[in-house]
Amino acid sequence: MQKTQVWDGFIRFFHWSMVALIALLYYSAENSLMELHFVAGFSLLSLLATRLIWGFIGSDTAKLSALIHSPKNTLAAIKGAPQETPGHNAAGSYMVIAFLILLVTQAVTGLMTTDDIMYDGPLVAMVSGDLSSLAGSLHHQIFDWILIAIALHITAIVVYKLKGKALVPPMITGKTTESYKQNAKMKSGWVGFAIFCVLLTALLTTWGAESVKTLLS
Ligand code: HEM
Ligand code: HEM
Repeated sequence: MQKTQVWDGFIRFFHWSMVALIALLYYSAENSLMELHFVAGFSLLSLLATRLIWGFIGSDTAKLSALIHSPKNTLAAIKGAPQETPGHNAAGSYMVIAFLILLVTQAVTGLMTTDDIMYDGPLVAMVSGDLSSLAGSLHHQIFDWILIAIALHITAIVVYKLKGKALVPPMITGKTTESYKQNAKMKSGWVGFAIFCVLLTALLTTWGAESVKTLLS
């Protein structure tokens, strides 16, 4: 059967690492393992920053510009209209935008959050007490929205599967058996992975240095 390339290596790495990191962030926060929370937080922040850069220089299916659709196309996608090119359909695109906004806000507010005992995000000392407490309360509340978005995301994937469209295998292998009028231009995921490594090293050797040292000791 003919296979069409849909997700490059970086998008797949981004997706599954994000799933693992969100679980680790929740676990570490609930168990007051704040060094681990900070290191996982900096890792997710680097991953999200790379995903945004990849949205400009990555494969056609990763482009941020491909996420914007008219309300007419979005309604048609919900009703099951066929896609002309591989990638997120119009309805799925809005889910991606919502996830990126929620997760970037969660990571940035984390930088300004303090537990008022021992652990301060690296920007706490640079912002006013009012801004830090607003960021802290957003950091708590937005996580509930992230959980709702995850529940809707998984429900949508199950509904597609029941309707005969398996979306998960392409997010693992990068390829789909669906065929399209037009194929997408793909880029090597290694470029995205290299950008991620540079950003992660920069964050872990600056803001994350103390947490990494404690975790390793
Ligand atoms: C997207 C990435 C992140 C996620 C999903 C996340 C998630 C969470 C969750 C679920 C909590 C517990 C909230 C509650 O008990 O209601 C928490 C607390 C906290 N997070 Fe994050 N976090 C992230 C990034 C960060 C970053 C980058 C930092 C700072 C470097 C940070 C600093 C903190 C602090 C200091 C607390 C404790 C607040 C308190 O005890 O009141 N977080 N985070
Ligand atoms: C922490 C939980 C999760 C989050 C935050 C999340 C987030 C995302 C995001 C942001 C995308 C868009 C990828 C991109 O273009 O960059 C995506 C796509 C996707 N996710 Fe997840 N995801 C989660 C869990 C899961 C799970 C558990 C599954 C499998 C059951 C899954 C299956 C998929 C699939 C199949 C796609 C591609 C959808 C399409 O074809 O349009 N996700 N997810």
